[in-house]
Amino acid sequence: MTYLMGIDVGTTSARVLIIDEQGNVIGSGVTEYPLDTPRPNWAEQDPHDWWAGTVASIREAMAEAGISGEAIEGVGLSGQMHGSVFLDAKDEVVRPAILWCDQRTAKQCETITETVGEKELVAETCNPVLTGFTAPKIIWLREEEPENFERVRKVLLPKDYVRLRLTGEYATEVSDASGTSLLNVPERRWSELILQRLELSPELLPEVYESPEVTGAITAEAAQETGLAEGTLVVGGAGDQAAGGVGNGIVQTGVVSSTTGTSGVVFAHLDAPVMDEGLRTHTFCHAAPGKWHVMGVMLSAGGSLRWVRDTLCAEERAAAEEMGRDPYELMTEEAARAPVGSEGLVFLPYLSGERTPYPNPNARGVFFGLSLRHQKAHIIRAVMEGVAYGLRDSLSIIEEMGVQVEQVRASGGGARSELWRQIQTDVTGRPHSLINVDEGPAYGVALLAAVGAGIYDSVEDACSATIRVVETADVNEEHRALYDRYYALYQGLYARLESSFDELAALVLG
Ligand code: XUL
Repeated sequence: MTYLMGIDVGTTSARVLIIDEQGNVIGSGVTEYPLDTPRPNWAEQDPHDWWAGTVASIREAMAEAGISGEAIEGVGLSGQMHGSVFLDAKDEVVRPAILWCDQRTAKQCETITETVGEKELVAETCNPVLTGFTAPKIIWLREEEPENFERVRKVLLPKDYVRLRLTGEYATEVSDASGTSLLNVPERRWSELILQRLELSPELLPEVYESPEVTGAITAEAAQETGLAEGTLVVGGAGDQAAGGVGNGIVQTGVVSSTTGTSGVVFAHLDAPVMDEGLRTHTFCHAAPGKWHVMGVMLSAGGSLRWVRDTLCAEERAAAEEMGRDPYELMTEEAARAPVGSEGLVFLPYLSGERTPYPNPNARGVFFGLSLRHQKAHIIRAVMEGVAYGLRDSLSIIEEMGVQVEQVRASGGGARSELWRQIQTDVTGRPHSLINVDEGPAYGVALLAAVGAGIYDSVEDACSATIRVVETADVNEEHRALYDRYYALYQGLYARLESSFDELAALVLG
């Protein structure tokens, strides 16, 4: 039997998964690491923590699987996207990495858009440049920490730093590179035009591969540290969203995923790089060679419910601990007691600003319609409904782009709640299905490693051999009709509050 390994260098932890060639999970390991917020709006991590976390998780997964490194045929890498690892001539980390959720670069985004020209920028990258993306972080370093910038010889994405430590190679792949604002997304290569206009040397960037391509092999040193075998191949892998897309089997037209993790992402496969005219969604290269994907990204989906858990549900947390249950289960049971529409309580889930459909860092969460009648059950349910309205926003934009939607696959922590799945089904009017595996990005890149190792001929083949639908929720038409009316109200609220969000930001940030 041969085995494959998927590594996900996430924001909170490094997760490693080992699967067999039929896609069964036989071992996993997770190691958490800290996130630093040295100033408001900043988010940084130490790349050494990613490496240490990856090494520990690889060892844990191999111990659980009971196999040695020799049994592993290939490794795939995934990770949080957009982050910047700045390396000097000796591959030493110059400063902490600036992450996808860091918001310091509003000014640099404007400079880039002006310098490159908005039209050309969108034609090359298929997207506007957003504060979380990589290019503005590089420009920020040049403007704000010139002494550090002088030392930089390479800029890598988070998972590609781990690749460097595993293989000694500077490499990335098209899906993650799509989130840098430096890739020509239609042509799947670095954009000479953007690099020239921003006066950035192409030498700063690693080589770009397609996701299942082999980018190098485990070095003797990495083998010693991790327990993997020297020479084991490492494929390109994918940014966490494209990797999750592969892990959910979103590699054909008509099948779309709706993932409720901290963020909420509606993800669709594309045969050609199509964009939303309003640029409210992201169009990136997919991990399947020659394919693209579009996604709508909500910043606080599961994150909104976690906020409720942490601020309002101490009782549920204590009870859950006593019963040995998950506090979300108790919260969901409570939410089920409130009726559809939460008796007029509507939640806007913009706790940390928003990307889709409103790329607005100033947007904030809102409870609208609060009355004496409302109990905690209503509040929890309203949050679940508000997130579902946000997911419907993304789904609608994707459909407006002409993308066919025949099946929606629910995934992520939020998909585990039957109630939340039903709410999403009724709010969107689309049956939401569950698939046999919900292992996230690490699973997707383990499948890419299987393709790179020649076990499957294509990413599509790997997905159809391993992933299938196991359950589908049906739309309750009565609930759907009521939700349609609430959704119209929800959409109107943002429009009315937009200028108030800016006023509030001015007040709070000074
Ligand atoms: C995608 C995105 C997130 C991060 C962190 O555009 O910002 O998925 O990759 O998970």
